[in-house]
Amino acid sequence: MQIEFVPEGPQSGDAPFVIAVLVFEDAGLSPPAAALDHQIGGAAARALTGRFKGSKGQSAELLSPSGATARGVLLIGAGEQAGVDEGAIETAAAHAYQGAKLTGAEVLELRFGPLSAAQAARAALGVRLAAYRFDKYKTTEKPDRKPSIESVRIVCADPDAAAAAYSPLSAVAEGVYLTRDLVSEPANVLYPAEFAARVKALERLGLEVEILGEAQMRALGMGSLLGVGLGSARETQLVVAQWKGADPSVQPIAFVGKGVTFDTGGISIKPADGMEDMKWDMGGAGAVAGLMCALAGRKAKANVVGILGLVENMPDGAAQRPGDIVTSMSGQTIEVINTDAEGRLVLADALWYCQDRFKPQFMVDLATLTGAIIIALGHDYAGLFSNNDLLADNLTKAGLAEGENLWRLPLPSQYEKQFESLAADMKNVGGRPAGSITAALILQKFVNGVPWAHLDIASTAWKKPSTNPTIPEGASGFGVRLLNRLVADYYEV
Ligand code: BES
Ligand code: MN
Ligand code: ZN
Repeated sequence: MQIEFVPEGPQSGDAPFVIAVLVFEDAGLSPPAAALDHQIGGAAARALTGRFKGSKGQSAELLSPSGATARGVLLIGAGEQAGVDEGAIETAAAHAYQGAKLTGAEVLELRFGPLSAAQAARAALGVRLAAYRFDKYKTTEKPDRKPSIESVRIVCADPDAAAAAYSPLSAVAEGVYLTRDLVSEPANVLYPAEFAARVKALERLGLEVEILGEAQMRALGMGSLLGVGLGSARETQLVVAQWKGADPSVQPIAFVGKGVTFDTGGISIKPADGMEDMKWDMGGAGAVAGLMCALAGRKAKANVVGILGLVENMPDGAAQRPGDIVTSMSGQTIEVINTDAEGRLVLADALWYCQDRFKPQFMVDLATLTGAIIIALGHDYAGLFSNNDLLADNLTKAGLAEGENLWRLPLPSQYEKQFESLAADMKNVGGRPAGSITAALILQKFVNGVPWAHLDIASTAWKKPSTNPTIPEGASGFGVRLLNRLVADYYEV
C-alpha cells in the first residue's frame, strides 16, 4: 500500500476512491466535511440526524452520493474537537482505513484538514498499522474478501514537511510489522534458528548481529536457558543485536526478550485446548527484534543492545523433568518444579549475560511470561515490574503516548518465601498466589542490581477481535512503539 501526502484542493486520478472526513461530537462537520457536504446536497449533515453523532469510534458511510465523484464518503467520528490530538488523528485514520478497505475502492483520501505535518504523519502511521495482514498462507481467499485499497492520499498543508515527519514513523511501522510477522508465523516455520536468521538479515540496516549456539552457551554456563531446550529437536539460540547510534563512550541501554518459539509446557504439558496460542510465546523477543529494526531504520542516536533467548519447550526423552536442578550462568541453582514455567529460566541466563557483558544503563525485558497477568489486568494493559522508579515512570509515560498501556505491580520481598527450595537456591515457581509477581521476583534474582524493568506482555501480545483500529486481530506488535518512544524521549543524545 502506498501513502501519499497531497496539498489541499481537488485531486486527479481515475481510480475509484473513497473520501474520509472528520465529524466532531460537539462541533459537527469539520471544515472539509462541510465543504464536501455542500457538493453532495447536504447528505453528510442529514447523516447526523440519526444515531451517528461523531463520537469516537462511530462512523457512517454514504454510498455514491450525488454530486460527488467519489464512490463513497466516510464520516469518521472524532469525539470532542478540543480533544483531537495526534493520537486521535492516528486512530481516526486507522478507522477510515478499516471502513474503506472492503468497499472495492482503490484509493482512500483523508480530508482531515487542516493537518500539520506531525498530524499528517501520525495519520499515515495509523493507516499503515491498520493495513497489516498476515495472509501469506491464504491461497484460496475470495477476491472480495481482500482489501482493495492500494493507495492512501493524505491531504495536508505542507506535503514535503509531512513526508519528512513520516520518515521516522515509517521505520517504526516497519518494526511493528516485523514483530507482527514473527509472532504470527507458526512454530513449524519459525523455530529458533529461523528466528535468528531473520534478525541476522537486519544487518542490512546497520545492526550488528551475533548468534550464539548451544556449544557457546554451554561454555558460558547457561544451564538454565539450555535446560528448556533439551526436549527440542531444534537448536537453542541466543541472539545479540547491537545498534551503535551514539558515541562509543555512551553506555548502552538494553532490551531482552523471551523467545519461546513454541511452549508445549514440556513434561508439565499444557492441555490441548488453546495450545496453538503458544506459537506466540516468542512475543517478547519479537518485540525486541521489531524495536531494533525501528531504531536502526530511523538511525536513532543511541547505543542499544537487544538480546533474544530463542528456544522451543518440548516434551521428549531428553527433556528436563520436574525436580531437575539446573545451574544458571549467575551460579545460582534452580529447582525446576514445573517445566511450563520456562520463560523465567530463559530470561535468567539472558539477563545475567546482558548485564555481565554490556554493563548497560538499564535493562528492560519483555516476555509473555504468565497467564496470571491476563487474570490481573485483562488484555488492555501489560504488567510492569521494576527496581527503579524513574525507569518505571518513563516506561509508563512512553506507553501512554503510544497507546500501549502499562500498569505497575509491586515486587514485595516477603513473597520470595514462596519459591524457596529445599535442595536448590530457588524453585522456578512460587505457587498460584501473585503468580505474575513471583515470576518477576525470580527474574530480579538475575539482574545483579542493575536498573531493570520487566514487562509481562502475555496479556497484550495478541489481540482477539480488536477494538483498536490500528491493531487488526492477531499479533499486536505490542512493545515496539512504547520502547521506541522511551528511547526517543529519554535516551537519545
Ligand atoms: N507462556 C506461558 C504464559 C502464557 C499463558 C502466555 C497464557 C500467554 C497466555 C508461560 O510459559 C507459562 O506457561 N506460565 C505458567 C506458569 C506457571 C506454570 C507457574 C502459567 O502462566 O500458567
Ligand atoms: Mn510455559
Ligand atoms: Zn511460556
